[in-house]
Amino acid sequence: MLSIRVEKTTTPKPLPAEDNPLKFGTIFTDHMFIMNYETGKGWHDARIVPYQPVVLDPAAMVFHYGQEMFEGLKAYRAADGRVLLFRPDMNAKRTNNTNKRLCIPQIPEEDFVEAVKAVVKVDEAWIPTKPDTSLYIRPFIIATDPFLGVRPSDTYQFMIILSPVGPYYPEGLDPVKIWIEDDYVRAIRGGIGEAKTGGNYVASMAAQLKAHKEGYSQVLWLDGVEKKYIEEVGAMNIFFKISGTVVTPILNGSILPGITRDSVIALCKEWNVPVEERRVSVDELYEAAKNGTMEEVFGTGTAAVISPVSHLRFQDHVLMVKDGSIGELSQKLYDTVSGLQRGQVQDTKGWIVEVK
Ligand code: PLP
Ligand code: COI
Repeated sequence: MLSIRVEKTTTPKPLPAEDNPLKFGTIFTDHMFIMNYETGKGWHDARIVPYQPVVLDPAAMVFHYGQEMFEGLKAYRAADGRVLLFRPDMNAKRTNNTNKRLCIPQIPEEDFVEAVKAVVKVDEAWIPTKPDTSLYIRPFIIATDPFLGVRPSDTYQFMIILSPVGPYYPEGLDPVKIWIEDDYVRAIRGGIGEAKTGGNYVASMAAQLKAHKEGYSQVLWLDGVEKKYIEEVGAMNIFFKISGTVVTPILNGSILPGITRDSVIALCKEWNVPVEERRVSVDELYEAAKNGTMEEVFGTGTAAVISPVSHLRFQDHVLMVKDGSIGELSQKLYDTVSGLQRGQVQDTKGWIVEVK
């Protein structure tokens, strides 16, 4: 059992007003979780303290070589007042997979989940209740050795901050327009694409700016070698429904194994909707859009939930997904996933964990 010291703030901030749209990731709660690591001593000094700046040596390794990781999950307020998490054990497992790739020490899975629950409990008043809102949870680890040589750090800080949020995209559940990038690449197999680390996101920014300029909200990445096969979007995995079959790129080492992705695949299987994890080429999408068999396209992610896609732009071609409206399966998945997360749909899979 993790022993967590709790120091409450003496100057709590006002909660956001009921009508605050809760722009994603802009408001932070009163407390944060911190735990330190030192080689020989292990993880220690777990504490919840008032939300505050982090003071680091300018030589701290995270600033120079990017040895850091992060996670993302959410706490939801059910109608009966319970506080619910969605598959937090999966975030704990993914943390350790990321850590392994980045030479960051492992964290016991139960300690990760316990730390999340403890800090959410302290700030549970910050969980918003309006439809499509939640408390976004951002666990992250940084390397803190003051050292300019390249090697894994001997000291780390694991922190968790919380942010009440509305929808990730300003479009909400309205379909988004996606830009298929054919110049920049984000990740290659054997690289760090399947780890959840800042390097993948900074690698995506130049293309994202380009896409924004053209009126597209997110970038869909192609494989880094042939630039022929679909990988994932900047902040979500991607699914296509073509001639009645749901297809999504197979986990190949360069895309993030999304927890929403895994849940959507499980739900499709349960509903007897044919689902395939395999390589998907841009040519196949182009063909499906042209011959009218592209029925639905949607992204999946913690922040994005289920996000329908209306347009895909590839080079000079704009592929329209049907008439640009939300597909039936996308809507059913959205209703089911967000219903499960908020305790409105019965959880038969043991995905929901209550914070007590
Ligand atoms: N892919 C990327 C690059 C992401 O940042 C995210 C968000 O976490 C996802 C996919 C979706 O993963 P998950 O469903 O676990 O949130
Ligand atoms: C998430 O969905 O949790 C993410 O991490 C996406 C993020 C880059 C905003």
